[in-house]
Amino acid sequence: MSQPSVPRVGVVVVAAGSGTRLGAGAPKAFVPIDDGTILRHALDGVFAARASDVVVVAPPGRESDADAEVFAAAGGRRDPVTVVPGGATRQASVAAGLAALPRDVEIVLVHDAARALTPAEVFERVIAAIQTGAVGAIPVLPVIDTLKRVAGDEIVAAVDRAELSAAQTPQGFRRDVLERAYAVATEDFTDDAALVAAAGQAVTAVPGHPLAFKITTAADLDRARHLVAPIPPAHRVAPALQRVGMGTDVHAFGAEGALWLAGLEWPGEPALSGHSDGDAVAHAIVDALLAAAGLGDIGTHFGTDHPEYAGAHADVFLGRTLDLLREAGWLVGNVSVQVQANRPRFAPRRGEAERALSAALGGAAVSISATTTDGLGFTGRGEGVAAFAVALVSPA
Ligand code: CTP
Ligand code: MG
Repeated sequence: MSQPSVPRVGVVVVAAGSGTRLGAGAPKAFVPIDDGTILRHALDGVFAARASDVVVVAPPGRESDADAEVFAAAGGRRDPVTVVPGGATRQASVAAGLAALPRDVEIVLVHDAARALTPAEVFERVIAAIQTGAVGAIPVLPVIDTLKRVAGDEIVAAVDRAELSAAQTPQGFRRDVLERAYAVATEDFTDDAALVAAAGQAVTAVPGHPLAFKITTAADLDRARHLVAPIPPAHRVAPALQRVGMGTDVHAFGAEGALWLAGLEWPGEPALSGHSDGDAVAHAIVDALLAAAGLGDIGTHFGTDHPEYAGAHADVFLGRTLDLLREAGWLVGNVSVQVQANRPRFAPRRGEAERALSAALGGAAVSISATTTDGLGFTGRGEGVAAFAVALVSPA
């Protein structure tokens, strides 16, 4: 027994319009969006869909230009694409395209070249609807605007937009149904669904796509150009040559013994509490460096489950951090740290503290700034110290 054959799908791409409303000085199909024309982009979508036969309906006399677009879009594969001249109306152009489809095509999709950015998934949805039994299927989008019926400048009635949808293309039909509808049509319709409906056939709706909008006016063309524009260099993600990291730490005053802060002992100042020496400056720097290198944070490497760090000072923490970064292939660029505290006063010992921390980091530049907080918050009330650090690292 032979396999049930999959019906052949043909696409008629109507591109024969003059583009009067666009006013670009050329038939709309040949107006560029970027490097590619409207027709080229439309064909990209068509060729990405599962169609076996494509007919392009070109402005009469411009068939060879359409041919060149087909050739470019198809990457050199010309067959099975046919180019035929269109008619005076869209309907006449569709009829010309329909007549050029091979006899064994059973499902026909009619697509406006002017809907240049229509994604292949819309074609797939329409094809699937016909393959599962619909005689006609069109993509639609809900109407967003509030609608009114007007006569002249008078609002006659509100229109319930829930009942309305905007029709797009590709519109798909069983070929026999579409041909019969064309054969009996006596008036001009704006789309094929209307023509098929006028012939008494039911047409199904499938979800459309915002990118399937029709390029009609200059504003539409602008929108298409923005959509296909490459991302400007300033918005690209830079390769990770250098990386920054930030860290903060807070400790409360109230421990026994001497204060250790920024790698220095501060005789006569109240001590900070903490598992180690409570040196919030050193700990903020550790977090900033580990974050910059993507190595976790201080808890990952120096948690309370490491008794060897109990009571340890900045040189131990920073030295170990430096080793971790080196093992991972990073060099420390610089570190900037700000201390928020009423005391100790950093100004007299700033250089000394910077040198101590720099030495612990193998000579990397460390700068310290210090500030009070105008009496506000826990630092303003003298309850503790907060430190904020930023670090820059580079691949070794
Ligand atoms: N079309 C066609 N043949 C025509 C008229 C229109 O093939 N005689 C095609 C257009 O090329 C377009 C689609 O039908 O892809 C939808 O038509 P529309 O957006 O109105 O395009 P134009 O007719 O070119 O534009 P205008 O009405 O502004 O002149
Ligand atoms: Mg038109």
